[in-house]
Amino acid sequence: MDTESNLYLKNMWYVAFYEQELKKGNLIPKEIMGEKIVFGRDNRGLPFALKDNCPHRGVPLSCGHFDGDRIQCCYHGWEFDTTGVCQKIPALAPDTPIQVNKIKAPSYPCREVNGIVWVFMPASKMSSTTVLPQVTDLLLAANKKFRHVEKVVLPCNIDHSVIGLIDPAHVTFVHQSWFWRSKKSSKLKIKNFEPSPMGFKMARHAPSNNSKGYKLLKGGTSTEIDFQIPGTRIEHIQIGEKHEIISITTLTPLNDQETELNQFFYSTLAASSWFWWPLRLLGRTFIGQDLGIFMKLKKGLENNPNLMLVGEPDAQARWYYELKKQWQKARQDETQFSNTLTGGQLKWVT
Ligand code: FES
Ligand SMILES: [Fe+2]
Repeated sequence: MDTESNLYLKNMWYVAFYEQELKKGNLIPKEIMGEKIVFGRDNRGLPFALKDNCPHRGVPLSCGHFDGDRIQCCYHGWEFDTTGVCQKIPALAPDTPIQVNKIKAPSYPCREVNGIVWVFMPASKMSSTTVLPQVTDLLLAANKKFRHVEKVVLPCNIDHSVIGLIDPAHVTFVHQSWFWRSKKSSKLKIKNFEPSPMGFKMARHAPSNNSKGYKLLKGGTSTEIDFQIPGTRIEHIQIGEKHEIISITTLTPLNDQETELNQFFYSTLAASSWFWWPLRLLGRTFIGQDLGIFMKLKKGLENNPNLMLVGEPDAQARWYYELKKQWQKARQDETQFSNTLTGGQLKWVT
């Protein structure tokens, strides 16, 4: 597994909140990649993110007061706008020569797309001319919104979390349910993978017929699964010609011990559809099962074991490390990242 300095992929967008979590006038502290950040939403509804320290003497800005326009630090009352620029230092005499606007709390770029609030984690100090990449493409028109289903904190670093997300072999042993599948129904799976701009894609295929869950979806179903660094898995299910379901899992490293998992669903099926109940139940059950195994993994890792990635069931994990290496190299060389994976066919029994 990567050392701590190579653990995080910088200069990328990460999921911070879904829209309902961050209400107008809110000020919420959150750790991402070990950096303490305060998120807020102003009176106009725009989200923002600042380093969670007052530039004066470091008290968390999240402990201050926010009126939807300015944040007032709770120690000496300095006031900042939502871009972090200081607007007022109450203790300064009116004739002070000090230009308060020169003082700034560092800010992070923050964007909201499809009802998800993203934050950009820069590799180094950003200037106002830094060109930002597009927010991660979740294969959904910008005017559509996800329904949030689940959020959990996995007790492991981002690498273990990603590998757990794309690892096919644990399904047989961790995700058994009477309504989904049982261990006895294992079969040889042969899947074709192709590279995508930021990762790799399991080409569109009919879902395995040993999954009872998919049988709920009648009318010609096919699924495509796309993995993108830093840790996004998009499953796009097409039902007949008219309907689609998109299930997105994103991973946000909180620190080197914890990773937040968010699962979002979008569907053209109506909210009242009978279909939502089993979908939610499935999502919740799966995540609960993953959380259970991650607790055990955390215990195991305390003993610092040597680990291995073996054969085709672990090929996607190796691809993930390869993508990470390429991303970090491109950043160091200041060149454009280009994915050199070639994909191919993988076989495993699950
Ligand atoms: S520490 Fe914030 S105003 Fe002094
Ligand atoms: Fe899992």
